[in-house]
Amino acid sequence: MALDALALDFSICLETPDLDQRILALTDHAFGPGRYVKTAERLREGAHILPDMSFVALDGDRLLGSVRMWPIDVREGEACERIAFLGPIVVDDACRGRGVGKALIHACLEAAFAKGLRAVLLVGTPGYFLPFGFEKAKDITLPGPVDPNRLMIHYSQPGLAFTGRVSKAV
Ligand SMILES: CC(C)(COP(=O)(O)OP(=O)(O)OC[C@H]1O[C@@H](n2cnc3c(N)ncnc32)[C@H](O)[C@@H]1OP(=O)(O)O)[C@@H](O)C(=O)NCCC(=O)NCCS
Repeated sequence: MALDALALDFSICLETPDLDQRILALTDHAFGPGRYVKTAERLREGAHILPDMSFVALDGDRLLGSVRMWPIDVREGEACERIAFLGPIVVDDACRGRGVGKALIHACLEAAFAKGLRAVLLVGTPGYFLPFGFEKAKDITLPGPVDPNRLMIHYSQPGLAFTGRVSKAV
């Protein structure tokens, strides 16, 4: 059986609408209902994922993991930058630590930057996201409280810095 093998056999594909309920079930199982009260959820509720940069990991028909991306704006005065908000990222607890999460992150970052977005923002564990090139976000505020150490941003190239208030893109 694939999950018992040393190397996990999986493919990374764009999310499709039929997977929505299974992704929600996987996410609810990992995070519990408490996730709905988090500030990050204010940027997702009522919004639509970015379908060309939200991915799933599949082993045949089995859903192993998911990463979702959402359109957000960072505004400072007249300046407004459309970027992506990453999350949730979740991997089935039966197959963690085998590179599924890493493959999902690489896929969504590559897709976001290929589409011309210049940054990806998230709220997450620094120890996990720093190796992918995320850094602590400076002078960016979300529509609610967030641990500043967990607010992280990945720019498409060195030298960029977006600051201001984040809101759902409409
Ligand atoms: C976090 C999560 C998505 C990681 O997925 P995964 O498939 O187990 O991760 P990977 O196997 O791709 O690990 C990639 C690297 O991150 C490391 N890593 C994994 N989980 C980590 C954690 N919680 N903190 C720090 N590093 C971590 C791995 O050791 C690996 O390092 P390596 O490349 O040096 O070997 C998964 O554990 C999960 O779904 N957790 C519950 C939901 C969650 O917490 N999501 C993230 C919110 S911040």
